Formats: sequence, C-alpha cells, structure tokens
Amino acid sequence: MSTISPVTILTSDRKKITTRTLQQKKDRCEPISVLTAYDYPTALAMDQAGVDSILVGDSLGMVVLGYPNTLSVTMEDMLHHCKAVARGAHFALLIGDMPFMSYQVSVQEAVRNAGRFLQEAGMDAIKLEGGRERLDVVRAITGAGIPVQGHLGLTPQSVNQLGGFRPQGRTAQAALRLLEDAELLEEAGCFSLVLESVPARLAGLISSRIHIPIIGIGAGLHCDGQVLVTHDLLGLFDRFTPKFVKKYASFHADMSRAFREYISDVEELKFPAAEHSIEMPDEEWEALLKMV
Ligand code: KIV
Repeated sequence: MSTISPVTILTSDRKKITTRTLQQKKDRCEPISVLTAYDYPTALAMDQAGVDSILVGDSLGMVVLGYPNTLSVTMEDMLHHCKAVARGAHFALLIGDMPFMSYQVSVQEAVRNAGRFLQEAGMDAIKLEGGRERLDVVRAITGAGIPVQGHLGLTPQSVNQLGGFRPQGRTAQAALRLLEDAELLEEAGCFSLVLESVPARLAGLISSRIHIPIIGIGAGLHCDGQVLVTHDLLGLFDRFTPKFVKKYASFHADMSRAFREYISDVEELKFPAAEHSIEMPDEEWEALLKMV
C-alpha cells in the first residue's frame, strides 16, 4: 500500500511538468529523465521518484503483451494502458505513443486518434515515428493544440523496412538525412524528439543544432535527456536486452524465485501461516458447533 496519498501528492510543492518545463531544462543544460510505463503501480512509483516524463510506449506490445514487435499494438491497447498510467502519475509529462497505422492512413485520422490520447486517456502529448514523410501529420496535430514528440533513428514500427532492429545513421549520408529530418520536425512544430540507436557523436551534433529537447535511447551521453524501456532497466523482460540498456535490477529472476517459493510453500502447507489467517472469537465458534 502506498504511503503517499493522492491528497499528499496534489498538495505538495511539486509542479506538474509541461513541455515548457522540458524546454527550460534544455535551455539550462539540465538533463531530462524519461521512462516508459504501462500500468498504475509503475507510473506511481516513477512519478514519486521524480521522473520528468513518462512515455506510454508502444514497446508495451513486446514487453507487456508478448508480441515479437510493436506492429500489432492497437489504439485500444494504447488507450487502456495510458488511462492506467494517468491514474498513477500526477507530475510527470505524460506522452502517449501513437501505434502503427493510427497516423499513417490520413491526416484527418491521425488528428482524431491523437486527440483521443488527451481527451480519453489523460495524456499531455503524443509521440509518433518518422521524419520528412510525417510533416503534414505533425503540422495538423500540433495545429489542433496537441504537443507532438517526434521519433527518429531506429523507428520500430518500420522494422520490416529497416531490415531488423539495427542502429541507424552510421554513414555520412544517412547521418545527414537524420539531421535534416530533425530540423524539419522542429520546423513542423514538434516540442521534442526521441533519437533511437544512432551513433553518440551524431546524437550530440543533432542535440546542439536543434533547439527542442532531444531524448536519446542508445544515442550516447550528449543528448538533452535519456529514455529507457522500464522493463529493460528493471530486468523484467527476459527475451533480450539491447546493448545500450543499463540494467538496474533483475526483477524477472526475483519474480521467478518468489513464484517458486510460493508454490513450494503451498505444496508443503507452509502458507498461509497463522499470521495470514482470519480468526473468529471462541464463543462464536462454540455457538456454531452447536448449530451444525
Ligand atoms: O515505445 C517505446 O517505448 C519507445 C521508446 C523506446 C522511446 O518508443
């Protein structure tokens, strides 16, 4: 049970983080922390820990729903998890990830879907993948008053086009294209960009040329902030761990150990013990025995 009640949270001195707060942090050269979350207890814990922003990433398709990639994630999946996160986090800037095919078909559909993240799911902003080919959509969504975070480099929704989950921008030509895309997305109105799996010095160059905050994942130290998939950081996702992840815990191993212990406690009649059982007064018990 949490020791901080929602009332404590709402009346504390902490201020809600906005897109403006992130820009101010970049302008002051203060690193920005971002984590992914998909449920209420995780969002609550990271909000209490003081993370700047929570991304409800479509990575949930892989680390929570067990798909091989993010392509099967739907708008309904995203909204369901965004709502849970919004109930747990009161301060962090909340960003909902637009799933595959929710913004690629038409600009009108993209704006409508983006709006659902704010109107129905309590998000403050949305994220979408892609560069120059997304400018119309970015302009239309920001034009509707919805803050947009771009996502360049390794864009998992294009895994089939990229030929796998592989680093991007490793040739001069590819790096130049990424820099140009970043400039175009900034011009189109993005408040921030995620740069995934690109050379550290390229990410540093882009962060210095672009005025909006650049959040790196597998993009080195010289971005304006960092994001990690929480299930990777906690060691909860056992299928693989990308090279750029720092594991801060081994929850999958801890979980397996706890489950094994529980099963053997049940089998050996060690659980529930007296302290886990509910008693009734002796006189009531005696009265019951006379009745049966
Ligand atoms: O879906 C996600 O979690 C993401 C992050 C890896 C940035 O897009």
